[in-house]
Amino acid sequence: MELPWTEKYRPKTLGEMVGQESITTRLQAYVESNSMPHLMFAGPAGVGKTTAAICIANQIFGDISHDFIELNASDERGIDVVRNKIKDFARTRPLTGDFKLIFLDEADNLTSDAQQALRRTMENYTKTCRFILSCNYSSKIIEPIQSRCSIFRFKRVLKEKVGEYLRKILDSEKIAYDDKGVEAILYVSEGDMRRSTNILQSCAALGKVTEENVFAITTQARPEDVIDLIKTGLSGKFMEARGILDRLMLEYGLSGEDVLLQMNREVWNTGITDAEKIHVIDLVGEANFTLVEGANERIQLEALLARMALVK
Ligand SMILES: Nc1ncnc2c1ncn2[C@@H]1O[C@H](COP(=O)(O)OP(=O)(O)OP(=O)(O)O)[C@@H](O)[C@H]1O
Ligand SMILES: [Mg+2]
Repeated sequence: MELPWTEKYRPKTLGEMVGQESITTRLQAYVESNSMPHLMFAGPAGVGKTTAAICIANQIFGDISHDFIELNASDERGIDVVRNKIKDFARTRPLTGDFKLIFLDEADNLTSDAQQALRRTMENYTKTCRFILSCNYSSKIIEPIQSRCSIFRFKRVLKEKVGEYLRKILDSEKIAYDDKGVEAILYVSEGDMRRSTNILQSCAALGKVTEENVFAITTQARPEDVIDLIKTGLSGKFMEARGILDRLMLEYGLSGEDVLLQMNREVWNTGITDAEKIHVIDLVGEANFTLVEGANERIQLEALLARMALVK
């Protein structure tokens, strides 16, 4: 059985990580001086938060260590995980180095009771323990914990960097691809390295990385088609716009919400006037709201096109 490429190509050291340079150089300095404060990694999905924490642990402690544990707060969100696992681990002295390291992944899933307990644990065992917390939103972590941590804000990885990374994988796996295919992955994955790697592997399973395969796998439309929908809609050619909408929903398998999200993203690339952009964004927002409320998506999207056709 082959490993998922996200695991196979997961960096083992901070130096191998792609993008996030300003973060990895600071983290590398902690590793080299063998001292660090509590850390918090915040940022969107798939950009290297968990990877960075594991790299730090590997570099400080080596492969197997009694002084490092990794817990995932999505599995155990309650106060018990702090009371039992974390405290038990933190209580004893480090076996090898100067401190033990507790990595609490997806910490924004901890209940607020658990966070309060964690705050006390962080205080009590500061001499012997360092924490790394990772989360998507730092605002979901209580203020007293935030103020005890150095916060690192991870960003989406730049397209060029993701592209380089994907091409390396393609070469080492000897997979056929064309540039438009790689471009399409960069478009749909929006700087999420996990997503881009997964799409790459799915395409490879189809034999080749092409634009067509990427959009087929990801239920996203080619940006040109969405731009076409917006422009045709605004031009008043309602029936033609409705035909494009049909294609997006039936051929690409997009849901109503997918269409709206992509319209919202592509409206900037249409070259329409600012006044028209304002109209479109306003109408897309309205349609999105009705969908969230549970309205029929087909009706709402056609109504959206009708309203666009009426914009003067
Ligand atoms: N900066 C990066 N450099 C190289 N590979 C990366 C990077 N970021 C992510 N990856 C790849 O994407 C996969 C997911 O990364 P990771 O688990 O670190 O994401 P995360 O930021 O913790 O996301 P989440 O918020 O969903 O937990 C990894 O297996 C790794 O292969
Ligand atoms: Mg993670």
